[in-house]
Amino acid sequence: MKNTHYDTTIIGSGISGLYTALKLNELNPESKILLITKDKFGESNSYYAQGGMVAVLHSNKNDSVECHVKDTLVAGAGLSEKDSVEFISENSDSVVKDLLKFGVNFDRDENGNFTLTKEAAHSVRRILHSGGDATGREMEKALMHAVKKVPDIEIKENTAIVDLVVKDNICEGVVTFDNSKYEQIISDVTILASGGIGQLYKYTTNPQCATGDGFSICYRAGAVLRDMEFVQFHPTALAIDDPEHHNRFLISEAVRGEGAKLCLKDGTEYMIKYDPRKELAPRDIVARANYTEMQKNKIDNVYLNATVIGKEKLLKRFPTINQKCASYGIDITHDYTPVAPAAHYFMGGVKTNFNGETSIKNLYAVGEVSSTGLHGANRLASNSILECVVCAYETAQHLNNKDYTKSETVEMYEPANVQKTEEKVLQSFKQRLKDTMWNNVGIFRDEKSLTTALNDVCEIEKEFNKPDICASIEEYELRNMITVAKLIIQSALNRKESRGAHYRTDYLQTDKVPRHSEVKKEMVLC
Ligand code: SIN
Repeated sequence: MKNTHYDTTIIGSGISGLYTALKLNELNPESKILLITKDKFGESNSYYAQGGMVAVLHSNKNDSVECHVKDTLVAGAGLSEKDSVEFISENSDSVVKDLLKFGVNFDRDENGNFTLTKEAAHSVRRILHSGGDATGREMEKALMHAVKKVPDIEIKENTAIVDLVVKDNICEGVVTFDNSKYEQIISDVTILASGGIGQLYKYTTNPQCATGDGFSICYRAGAVLRDMEFVQFHPTALAIDDPEHHNRFLISEAVRGEGAKLCLKDGTEYMIKYDPRKELAPRDIVARANYTEMQKNKIDNVYLNATVIGKEKLLKRFPTINQKCASYGIDITHDYTPVAPAAHYFMGGVKTNFNGETSIKNLYAVGEVSSTGLHGANRLASNSILECVVCAYETAQHLNNKDYTKSETVEMYEPANVQKTEEKVLQSFKQRLKDTMWNNVGIFRDEKSLTTALNDVCEIEKEFNKPDICASIEEYELRNMITVAKLIIQSALNRKESRGAHYRTDYLQTDKVPRHSEVKKEMVLC
């Protein structure tokens, strides 16, 4: 197996990975950076983000850091860390200015001022957007373009991380696999920016690459992970499966922010029964309301009436949504749009501070894979891209001022050859896992459903029988999905209360004193 050396290895080509690479290069143009991505360059959760990015702009006289912090803490249901929220909010204005230097831009009005939108649980308009409803795609395109111009950032596509190389709690690099060969990549610093877990669920807005790899390899390496029971379900994914992308297309919360109403087929609106803030209640409440209506009425979806926004505004603000719905024969300016909840974002993650430091030396985590304390039990819409960019910026600054404990000798990792699992069987394992996670570890859960899910996942693990070495990237993905599913289920079993996105029908109360949950390698799972 080949053994290569870089100053920094970054895993993931979403907004966190790209911006961290650019900031590191800006601070130290001499440093050799490797950016590894499991799919094609740029494929990530970030790419599909629609609504936008929160920014408390100094020019926005209606907003303040205090107001944004308050909204985030309310949505976070007692588990957001005030220090983290304040820090990230305070740095939002300056990070927007910095992003502009790298070619990122946001939509502006005829006077050149940024146009701001609103999403659920925000008190004021404070969300920047780009391309109308394609904020992630536009930010990604700009940052990808900037990265490609830097010769000292090398990009490795279609390559999975098998494991971290960790000795005496110091991360020395990673072992990669590209479906034909293994490689050991040694680096002074390893930064995970590997995204989320949506593909663990039957219904998700996330792309196919979101299989929880970063959480799983960190767990195997002994890092501390936090709040793994908190999965955010978006209330309004288009209720039509997209077989090409193995997901469901997102209908942005910004559509409700601009006035769209949730209703049944006959137009009956129902949100007032669930919360006085109606369509703009925090996301967990709206997702539960939609799911309850679907179960009560024995229907596969509810509807979003966006026609009330008016044709001209709808087409200008939501061109991507309009186009996608039109491809399914839905005219959002005229028809009700069929929507249903879907797994969307993971609030838990690898425990870090806002410099990205994890519990393992020289291992950093940024973006959805990290748990900085911002999101608590329920993320406030459009806070995630803000966290990506502020923490990428801080991580790069921190690393630039740091002396590393460099690795001395690194033992080579020699994987054995293993038999490939038949494709049909592999797909059936994945589908069984997604089904049980959706049915039993979803919007509503209880002891019985969680125990059923744990048994199902342990059975899949036994049948798959590849705890270490696998034969393909897809097999490594399944190995990671199994590990992360068990961590989510076990954490959900342990939390005997309902809080934010974790809703236990057998423990409806919210405990007076909020507490984070942590998992480490010693946790016995099956
Ligand atoms: C959306 O556009 O509804 C998603 C925004 C987010 O997840 O923050």
